[in-house]
Amino acid sequence: MLVTLVLMFAGGWYFDQHSGWFDPKIYAPYSDTAQLAAFQPQSGDAALVAKGKAVYESVCGICHGSDGLGKAGQAPPLAGSEWVAKDLVSLARIPLTGMNGPIQVAGKEWNLAMAPMGAGLSDADLAAVLTYIRNAWGNKSSPVSEADLKAARAAISGNAPSAAAQAKMTSVERGHLVFEKYGCPQCHGPNGTGGVTNLNAKTAEQVPSLIYVADGYNKAELMAFIKRGERNIPRKNPAGPEPPRFMPEWKSIVNPDELSDISDFLFSLKPKGEKLDF
Ligand code: HEC
Ligand code: HEC
Repeated sequence: MLVTLVLMFAGGWYFDQHSGWFDPKIYAPYSDTAQLAAFQPQSGDAALVAKGKAVYESVCGICHGSDGLGKAGQAPPLAGSEWVAKDLVSLARIPLTGMNGPIQVAGKEWNLAMAPMGAGLSDADLAAVLTYIRNAWGNKSSPVSEADLKAARAAISGNAPSAAAQAKMTSVERGHLVFEKYGCPQCHGPNGTGGVTNLNAKTAEQVPSLIYVADGYNKAELMAFIKRGERNIPRKNPAGPEPPRFMPEWKSIVNPDELSDISDFLFSLKPKGEKLDF
């Protein structure tokens, strides 16, 4: 009797753990439908969202937060933002060409600047990021395809010189275009001449000018610095707030040829024939 009961109990327990309740799709070693679903290839929108989340977290999340809630004094929220729900061309314009406040986001005013952080992403990657932010954190807007994004980019970029025209330019001229394309002047001033306020930054509460970088860096060092950026800006008053503008990490945004051209452009900014007294 006892042995029979123990066997019945063990059989019932095994059935409960492994059978998936008579579902014909489930057999050893799998024990339930959730486990099987995890092995299915993701397709369509699900794959787009998974890719968008990964790119978002490496490129946008540092400012807007992986929870999409933004950061006080640094970046507004994307969760519940009316900008994210706009038509595609208006939304795509923000990561492609940057944004300068003052703006209202969900009833709150922000007055900061965002560089064109998406300008170096491929159509496929940026479409995935936008699809992700339009559907994460309670947002609900239509997905964006690679073709939609290609059309939006064409509508926005209008009169940029063609690739053929750019190939004929000097690296300094091309570097100037790249400097504009990524919105470097938003923080470093027109032609890198400075003058842009950065509250509580040690450098005269301004983002530094770039016209003397030739004195501080060789080309490899300059390229390395631009790639890694600088998140921690020294504060004028150590007890004061974090300066709102920091040097973004451009590694996954600006491609190596552009980086080389940008460096040549920055080196060309040093005023000629000037004697410096130290
Ligand atoms: C270096 C910080 C930074 C990064 C990185 C960044 N943003 Fe922003 N973003 C900002 C700031 C600051 C603003 C507000 C600008 C203003 O005040 O005009 C903003 C505004 C926005 C807005 C409109 C306002 C809102 O909250 O809805 C959208 C949409 C947006 N960003 C999307 C993106 C996307 C997509 C990426 C990645 C491709 C990205 N941002 C990367 C700082 C950043
Ligand atoms: C959102 C603002 C912002 C944007 C956009 C920005 N920078 Fe910066 N950058 C800074 C800040 C702030 C510093 C100062 C970093 C520090 O204190 O170490 C800096 C420092 C630098 C330096 C070092 C200057 C020195 O004297 O050592 C270089 C070079 C530079 N940036 C190049 C660029 C280039 C090229 C771009 C465009 C691809 C760019 N920056 C875009 C904010 C920005």
